[in-house]
Amino acid sequence: MTDVRQHPNIVLLTSSEIEEVSGYVGNFHVRVVKKARYVIEGDCTACGDCSKVCPVMVPDEHQEGFSFRKAIHIPFPQAVPSAYVLDMANCLGNNPIACGKCFEACQKKCINYDMKDEVVEFDAGVVIVATGMETYDPTELEEYGYRKFPNVVTTIEFERLLSEGGPTEGHLVRPTDMKQPRRIGFIQCVGSRSRKRGNPYCGNICCMNTVKDTLLLSEHYPDAECTVFYIDIRAFGKGFEEMFVRSKEAGVRYVRGIPGEIREDQATGNLILSAENSSTGRVEDFEFDMVVLSTGVVPARGSEEIRRKLTLSKSPDGFLLESHPKLKPVDSPTKGVFFAGCAESPKDVKDSVTQAGAAASRAGILLAKGEVKIEAITSAIVRENCVMCGACAKVCPYNAIIPPDKAKGVYPSVIEAACAGCGTCSAECRFDAIEMRHFTDEQIMSQIDALLAEKPEEKILVFACNWCSFAGGDGAGTARLQYPPSQRIIRTMCSGRVDEKFVMRGFEKGAAMVLVSGCHFSDCHYISAVRWTQKRVEKLWDRLEKLGIRPERLQLEWISAAEGVKFARVMKELDEMRKTVAPAEVAETRRIIEEADRKKADRKAAKPQAL
Ligand code: FES
Repeated sequence: MTDVRQHPNIVLLTSSEIEEVSGYVGNFHVRVVKKARYVIEGDCTACGDCSKVCPVMVPDEHQEGFSFRKAIHIPFPQAVPSAYVLDMANCLGNNPIACGKCFEACQKKCINYDMKDEVVEFDAGVVIVATGMETYDPTELEEYGYRKFPNVVTTIEFERLLSEGGPTEGHLVRPTDMKQPRRIGFIQCVGSRSRKRGNPYCGNICCMNTVKDTLLLSEHYPDAECTVFYIDIRAFGKGFEEMFVRSKEAGVRYVRGIPGEIREDQATGNLILSAENSSTGRVEDFEFDMVVLSTGVVPARGSEEIRRKLTLSKSPDGFLLESHPKLKPVDSPTKGVFFAGCAESPKDVKDSVTQAGAAASRAGILLAKGEVKIEAITSAIVRENCVMCGACAKVCPYNAIIPPDKAKGVYPSVIEAACAGCGTCSAECRFDAIEMRHFTDEQIMSQIDALLAEKPEEKILVFACNWCSFAGGDGAGTARLQYPPSQRIIRTMCSGRVDEKFVMRGFEKGAAMVLVSGCHFSDCHYISAVRWTQKRVEKLWDRLEKLGIRPERLQLEWISAAEGVKFARVMKELDEMRKTVAPAEVAETRRIIEEADRKKADRKAAKPQAL
């Protein structure tokens, strides 16, 4: 970090928050609020005179509350810049009666109680998001007694106790009696890999972190007895398996089974637990001086806010969603925005460094070129049809449409560099005033007509989004899953592109069933576009009902790229439904829609006369 700070091309803004990011690839404008530190950063020499005289003591966040810090402090020893910061929430202030001691002690007169937050604005061609992550708070898992039994600690707390720079200078002691613990239990997967509580995903780093801790313990405290309770040990990185073997050779006991509860012996502060050792099939009792909960990881606080400001998507686990898990793992769906580290998923140091390098390279390529190639699939305004209602701008997940200004007669316009090509705008425009290049209404209507040209009553018309449902169909095919051949698929980039009129055209042409399918809500590659799909289909269900057409004949399904099995199952279920649609019902539907179209055309024709 010191190198970063000294680099002539890098401006480091610490204690800062992004307030707003506007613009698009190559042309972002960023507004940052730099928080007041109440110490003049450039003048502070970190001599510590101020801290020595500060009378305020508060729990030290860096030491997980095991020790105290002053109101004026350096957040952690390696902090860059190495300058003091005044925690104004706890400071007694510059009132000579109340305090003001640090001001008097500072010979360089760096302290300024009146310092204000500063707004910094700059332009950027690309953005790299590196929010980091946080550890899971196991308080909700009452059975482990975290916060109730002082000798139950989390991995991070244990790390602080083991660290040379920690509150005990690396001497491991247990909180109740400050004695060195001899029997230490580690419980893995706390808050991870559970669908009921905590998180369903794997924390990725916890197994190897525990293996490392047990090795450290056996080196520094040869008489320590470590027992690790685990589901399975995930030691898949380079050299990790060897580390795991070394830990076992050092005498660490690995018990395959997770304890259900921790009890405390109030007299000794020792912790008692039982676990079924699934390797032996026996329930065993254990007593420990200290238990370490190997907690999983969760997205960083504030990453949701960053997600909104940069119009990014997130995966069901809450981490930011990459553009493509294999082909574009560091790109976000918003052009010019890349991910590094745990912003995108839990990672260890090595993977984070690798991803950071990849993100920097991806960003560097764009910056070096000085120009961007945009996808050909973008939307375009058809002015002749535009009534300047602004609906297209409202639904665009990327803010890629500049809204119209009716008073000034300015039509909406598309920022092509920002348009990702989901087609939601085009599907939402009731006046055919915005066209999706390569997925135009005419192209899709022609596909519908062609697919339903013969025996339409035996067919299910399927609209599948490129990234999930269509890929799910691909998955079903490559896995050779069997399903009836009644479906006919039309691929759109996003389910948000499926216009009401495509569905109605399908029924008009005699389709027995229509399916609109897309990614699960948090997987949509176009941020929130899939929400508009849902709204549109709900509207269509009402419309079908009003027209006297069974709404069940239009189905909506979320199928991910990994759900080939679901794709095949849905196709089978739809085929069963299709069989309930008699040819007479199909014919009646066609009649109803044709009549409705005719009436609409008549109304349109009558309008100029009425004027
Ligand atoms: Fe699949 Fe939007 S990309 S629904």
